[in-house]
Amino acid sequence: MKRILVPGGAGFIGSHTLLALKAAGYEPLVLDNLGNGHRDAVLDTRLIEGDIRDSALLDSIFANENIDAVIHFAAFIEAGESVRDPMKFYDNNFAGSLNLVKAMNRHGVRKIVFSSTAAVYGESGEARLTEDLPKLPINPYGQTKWATECVLRDSAAADGLQAIALRYFNAAGADPQGRLGERHDPETHLIPLVLQAAAGMREAISMFGTDYDTPDGTCVRDYIHVADLAQAHVAALEHLFRLDDSPERPENGFYDAFNLGNGAGFSVREVVDTCRAVTGKEFTVKEEARRPGDPATLIADATRAKSVLGWKPQIPSLEDIISHAWHFMTSTNNR
Ligand SMILES: NC(=O)c1ccc[n+]([C@@H]2O[C@H](COP(=O)([O-])OP(=O)(O)OC[C@H]3O[C@@H](n4cnc5c(N)ncnc54)[C@H](O)[C@@H]3O)[C@@H](O)[C@H]2O)c1
Repeated sequence: MKRILVPGGAGFIGSHTLLALKAAGYEPLVLDNLGNGHRDAVLDTRLIEGDIRDSALLDSIFANENIDAVIHFAAFIEAGESVRDPMKFYDNNFAGSLNLVKAMNRHGVRKIVFSSTAAVYGESGEARLTEDLPKLPINPYGQTKWATECVLRDSAAADGLQAIALRYFNAAGADPQGRLGERHDPETHLIPLVLQAAAGMREAISMFGTDYDTPDGTCVRDYIHVADLAQAHVAALEHLFRLDDSPERPENGFYDAFNLGNGAGFSVREVVDTCRAVTGKEFTVKEEARRPGDPATLIADATRAKSVLGWKPQIPSLEDIISHAWHFMTSTNNR
């Protein structure tokens, strides 16, 4: 059984990926400092409480735990906070990732799947984003992710690292079986915020901008079910393991990057209306002015993930995404 080190595995997307890894026959081992994660989110997976910036800890893990590959989620995630406190983000997201890759290289662990983001594209002016667009992030969060991708790309070329960066759009939903869900604090993502309003946990929800050039005037974004994201990590890992069977170049480095999205956009108003329909609850919606830096439409072109990794979303419906999130939010599992 292959052992996969999962830094950040106690967080939202990482914990769902543990379920997918186990279902696919892998043995995950979580490394998480629990700064933003939850100890109980790893369920029965072994957790090492620690930090990716701790080189001695990484040396001891790679020397003793027979790690075959790494799936790296550990990062701070809030773009707005990264503008206010960029050093915090460069230190954790960039220096932490650099530290992890250096430790992998020291110990000959060559395979890594990395959580990147649609934020690497910045304001491209395109509504449908393909991987080859220029990488021009507009905030330090996106910058730290793109800089880490550059580390992976360059270490692949020079050191034989085998890396896949997955650029997620908006992760949403919860485990369809209700075992796990989203528990960010503070919460900044649209679907859980609207559901919190539906649950009476916040007074109202704000809609920023209703005069965009979109069918209903509100911003259109690509929401991808977290269970589909989790499955994409297994597909990426298997792609990296298949390199070992390639007779031409098993020793060579490898780097590629894939968008992960639904390929369909949903407007803010559609999200709000679907939350009303799924929950059967009424809540106050405030229509406010546009926020600077919010493009009208951002949708993933995930064609390459489909053709190269053989991955495609299995739960594309907005109703399903929202009802899984609502089920988790209102269930006793949401500790
Ligand atoms: N949620 C999204 O919509 C989204 C979109 C694009 C990209 N991403 C990326 O996906 C990854 C996971 O996102 P998430 O929503 O699950 O976030 P999350 O905050 O729920 O999970 C991140 C986890 O990493 C841990 N962590 C952070 N810094 C660490 C460190 N130095 N050492 C050890 N552990 C550390 C946290 O404790 C947490 O458990 C992040 O890298 C994020 O940038 C998320």
